[in-house]
Amino acid sequence: MPAFTHHIFICANTRPPGHPRGCCDPEGTDALREAFKSEIKRRKLGPLVRANKSGCLEQCEHGPTIAIYPQALFYGGVTVADVPRIIEETVIGGRVLHDLRIAEECLNNPGCPHVRARRGEFPS
Ligand code: FES
Repeated sequence: MPAFTHHIFICANTRPPGHPRGCCDPEGTDALREAFKSEIKRRKLGPLVRANKSGCLEQCEHGPTIAIYPQALFYGGVTVADVPRIIEETVIGGRVLHDLRIAEECLNNPGCPHVRARRGEFPS
């Protein structure tokens, strides 16, 4: 079997209410992953496109977060409403959605403006 063309990891991590880092699935509904699975099935993209639940991707302040490999794209602030567009534009069309992409300078950067804003260090 060929490798996945797109392996989508959807953070489903939960943390207690009020946690300073927040989390990607505070209600624990798994709704985002279910939306990806449904859209992949509807478009008959399996098995080469796959959506898996993941633990924390360490981009909590940008969440809800997904990672797409092997493209190594990180999208943040993803909602269920974004899923058809991600599949259409990024997975099928090969286009990066810049409004969702977590900037390179923000990935794993505790000094990024979004992380500092979440900590209340200054308004975003
Ligand atoms: S809780 Fe989702 S990236 Fe950390």
